[in-house]
Amino acid sequence: MTEEAAQSKRFTPKVPIELDPPKDDPISQEELAKCNGTDPNRPTLVAIKGVVFDVSRNAAYGSSGQYRVFAGKDPSRALAKSSLKAEDCVPEWHDLEDKEKTVLDEWFTFFSKRYNIVGKVEGATNT
Ligand code: HEM
Repeated sequence: MTEEAAQSKRFTPKVPIELDPPKDDPISQEELAKCNGTDPNRPTLVAIKGVVFDVSRNAAYGSSGQYRVFAGKDPSRALAKSSLKAEDCVPEWHDLEDKEKTVLDEWFTFFSKRYNIVGKVEGATNT
């Protein structure tokens, strides 16, 4: 296997997941916050670098799940720093070390292989 092929297989789920084409719809901060796993009429959403993933099918992000702190937020900083602190669950990662930014990009890859992209956080910049 080439290095490139090996790299693209990283974080691939063991059981294949059918994903929908990614959506580009704007999602407001307010709406994202409501999608935190507590409202049965809303999906559970997690954003990374402003890109919103629908994580509804994973109970880990539900209201009593181990990763509920991420739900309804863009926790890019926490993912980069391997933190579960609520104060780290913010979309601020620009000041982090390269190593942490790499971890964040790996989480982005992990999520993009598992969860549908349903939109973008309004006003978010992903550079
Ligand atoms: C005692 C420490 C920890 C243990 C034992 C642990 C364990 C696990 C396990 C077993 C999974 C895989 C679950 C599955 O396959 O569905 C997982 C996934 C995950 N962990 Fe942890 N973890 C720990 C700490 C953390 C920390 C500090 C973070 C903060 C970034 C974190 C973030 C995540 C995320 C985002 C997932 C992916 C869940 C998904 O969407 O499938 N974990 N963890």
